[in-house]
Amino acid sequence: MRGSLTRALTGALGLIAAAAGQLATAAPVAADSVVVGGRQAQITDAPWVVALSSRDRFGGTRAGQFCGGVLVAPTKVLTAAHCLGREVLGGEPWEVRDFVVIAGRAALRGQGGQEVRISDTWVNPDYDPTTNSGDLAVLTLVSALPQSYVIGVARTGDAAYTPGTEADVYGWGDTTGSGTYASALRTARVQVLPDGACERAYPGGFGVPYRGDTMLCAGDPRGGKDACQGDSGGPLVAKGLLVGLVSWGSGCGQAENPGVYTRVSAVLPESF
Ligand code: ARG
Repeated sequence: MRGSLTRALTGALGLIAAAAGQLATAAPVAADSVVVGGRQAQITDAPWVVALSSRDRFGGTRAGQFCGGVLVAPTKVLTAAHCLGREVLGGEPWEVRDFVVIAGRAALRGQGGQEVRISDTWVNPDYDPTTNSGDLAVLTLVSALPQSYVIGVARTGDAAYTPGTEADVYGWGDTTGSGTYASALRTARVQVLPDGACERAYPGGFGVPYRGDTMLCAGDPRGGKDACQGDSGGPLVAKGLLVGLVSWGSGCGQAENPGVYTRVSAVLPESF
């Protein structure tokens, strides 16, 4: 486990460098644009959404939130592998002494819910930081959250993955594409898009190519609704099941550049 984790983290710099080319082309998005183009969400409607936090590293005003995550069992949180990279955390996950998962709390400035420490970290050994393929990690919590918070995971072939299916993305990320971070949980309604939509947007070459085997394409065909920076690791939910994790994209909310998500059914091992 430790070997694969180290391998994943040492490559993270490549991802940042590769992603920078695409992020630099980001165009401004509509002001109302989660999550851009979204609306406020109640934690009781989405109790499986959690925030990853370190106040030491990210400051206390937004409770140290830096990524999203999703509860798939009482002690298991899925998040994006790139959220645990050295460039994000400044070290290995176990070196971040105050690393916690915040559950049951929509308002980062509030006191609700609970903060739970992490006993183990598993980064997908097939995660490739240069292409962002397989962008998934599993956090094990030191104590169990209620079973009622847990969301089911859509299996390969589930109708929830069919292009055109409505899906909701959740997070505390940038709401404008220019660094306006939310302090209350937001959600945006997008749809599962055909792989072709992301293959056209992200053909590779200068940027990172989209790969439909490990990634999922979703967005608003008219633009305006999307995940954005700070939403990474958070859930994309369709037909009541988890289908994706916020992973990457060019800009936020541009019709021609959909959001790219981790295809959870393809990347999560059966044993989880
Ligand atoms: N990589 C970003 C993060 O770490 C997520 C970006 C998602 N972008 C998008 N347009 N859907 O928070």
